[in-house]
Amino acid sequence: MSRKLHIIGNWKMHGSKEQVRQFFAACHEMLISKPVWLKRVQGVICPPVVYLAQASQALDGQVEFKLGAQDVSQHESGAYTGQISATMLKEHHCHYVIVGHSERRQLNHETNEEIAAKFFKAKASGLIPVLCVGETEAERREGATEKVVLGQLRLLLEQYPDAFNGGMIAYEPVWAIGTGVTATPEEAQAVHHLLRSTLGEYDAQIATRIPILYGGSVKPNNAEALFKMPDIDGALVGGASLVPTDFFAICQAAGKLTAGE
Ligand code: PGA
Repeated sequence: MSRKLHIIGNWKMHGSKEQVRQFFAACHEMLISKPVWLKRVQGVICPPVVYLAQASQALDGQVEFKLGAQDVSQHESGAYTGQISATMLKEHHCHYVIVGHSERRQLNHETNEEIAAKFFKAKASGLIPVLCVGETEAERREGATEKVVLGQLRLLLEQYPDAFNGGMIAYEPVWAIGTGVTATPEEAQAVHHLLRSTLGEYDAQIATRIPILYGGSVKPNNAEALFKMPDIDGALVGGASLVPTDFFAICQAAGKLTAGE
């Protein structure tokens, strides 16, 4: 079965009003001619949340890219200073949300329990949550990759068995994020296959349908080899998503291929 590829740009805490203006002007220019890869690839940009309104105006419903957020609250509303609810994100034309990024796990001490609650809340509110999983360099060295990524997945599967019906996963080895060191296509494929087969133990159809993205130093020069792998359905892109030509080049690399074929 062929799955649509997703290229999701995570701007992290980068950008400015001017950068949003320039980036989306470049999107208009690039996509106005409706390149063929648009049929196979869903581009998504996750700017800092304060730029969502500007980005959504800039897309103007004419550009096929969609918007996402980098985090979401597990709560609907209330006394949660600084948090943003899924409903608020939806009001800003947000379709996707990254949940459990390793920077939030490490810097904000988010636990698997909180991340599962956020994922479930996002999905119940009609957003498409993208669960990030991945091991550190030390965990890989110790041979604990499988244990770590399945641990990050299992809680959600056990608490909300239907969570991945409409959700997504991004495998992001922590040692590859922002380092310029990418997992080899074979290393990434092995973990993607593990994730898909584990999902298959719960629901074969969801396992076949779910997009599983790779993240960690994806660049125009390494994207195509990753996307050739049968279980890699696109990428979660940090640094390269800030440069329109690089982001489009990664989308084009995905457009040459159709996952699962
Ligand atoms: P990177 O970031 O592409 O800069 O390595 C990926 C991510 O953190 O999602």
